[in-house]
Amino acid sequence: MTTIAILGATGYTALELIKILLRHPNAEITALTSREDTRKIELVHPSLSGRLDLSLESLSAKEIANRAECVFSCLPHTASAKIVPELLHCGTKVIDLSADYRLNSVEVFETWYAEKHPDPNRLGKVPYGLPELFRKQIIGTDLIANPGCYPTSAILPLAPIIKTNLIEPEDIIIDSKSGVSGSGRKLRLSTLYPECNENISAYSVGTHRHTPEIEQIITTVSGKNTKVIFTPHLTPMDRGILSTIYSKPTRPVLQNELLETLSNFYRNEPFIKIVEHLPSTKDVSGTNFVHITARVVGNRIITVSAIDNLIKGASGAAVQNFNLMFNYPETTALI
Ligand SMILES: NC(=O)c1ccc[n+]([C@@H]2O[C@H](COP(=O)([O-])OP(=O)(O)OC[C@H]3O[C@@H](n4cnc5c(N)ncnc54)[C@H](OP(=O)(O)O)[C@@H]3O)[C@@H](O)[C@H]2O)c1
Repeated sequence: MTTIAILGATGYTALELIKILLRHPNAEITALTSREDTRKIELVHPSLSGRLDLSLESLSAKEIANRAECVFSCLPHTASAKIVPELLHCGTKVIDLSADYRLNSVEVFETWYAEKHPDPNRLGKVPYGLPELFRKQIIGTDLIANPGCYPTSAILPLAPIIKTNLIEPEDIIIDSKSGVSGSGRKLRLSTLYPECNENISAYSVGTHRHTPEIEQIITTVSGKNTKVIFTPHLTPMDRGILSTIYSKPTRPVLQNELLETLSNFYRNEPFIKIVEHLPSTKDVSGTNFVHITARVVGNRIITVSAIDNLIKGASGAAVQNFNLMFNYPETTALI
């Protein structure tokens, strides 16, 4: 049994984590934190009624480490890296769902996030928590940089076809649509119901912070300098990400070859399904699965992927990483 603390437990990713961990036979949630809220967790997340008898607390790193062997940090970026060093010092393992440890370069982080990094010396040394690509590094580590939701949806379809030289690595357009929970539970104008219901809009065109993360990871995996144009859209649904990705083949290629390349690359992966039909977000909603397909249209390759941003894009991936870190079967508690 592994004892677990969840930081930022009032948020959306924390709720999904709690639900997954409640069905994990080797996990016991022993602490839930909030800066100010001290209510029982079932009052904050009514879907947990009668399922977890814990109240929220404001705890120091030492107090958290006294209660938990593993910490899931569901805090915003920079808030996470302020507490992670002390947690590691106290001997807990940490899975960080924020963006704080995903990028290798402090300069890149500070340029894209426009904030000073609180723990700059660790950047470049933390495994990126996408087991399909970095499983060996994840096993046995103390700290994981859990991937961003959009990057998961873009990296998984692209990595195999760049690695096998099927597409030009510097001519890629990623068009992604996300449900509103991708922005978290905090109040903001753009996610109020009258603003986002019956509405769809692009945002952060050319400036979204997941751009350098996508480029860095695909470059690392493929060994080819990768450049992407990434355009996210906010769509009027609760959850899910659909990414439609346009790239240029390096030579004439047929759809079957693309699907075969993807299927071979992921043939032993429990959560990746290469499908012939066009994926949609409902097909994977509430699950840790990724559905991917590919088409050849004119002189372009179009890959399409669907994930649940809160599960494979956040909390499901975090539990997959937890299972690897603590030597439990990788699919435990995940559906
Ligand atoms: N939503 C997604 O689809 C998704 C996907 C992948 C990764 N992520 C990342 O995962 C993390 C959590 O996301 P989320 O969607 O669960 O966010 P959220 O719903 O906004 O929850 C974040 C929680 O962190 C706490 N918090 C906020 N500001 C804080 C601060 N300055 N210092 C300490 N605690 C603070 C808040 O709890 P209190 O106010 O109660 O203290 C809040 O409930 C973020 O870093 C996000 O970027 C999210």
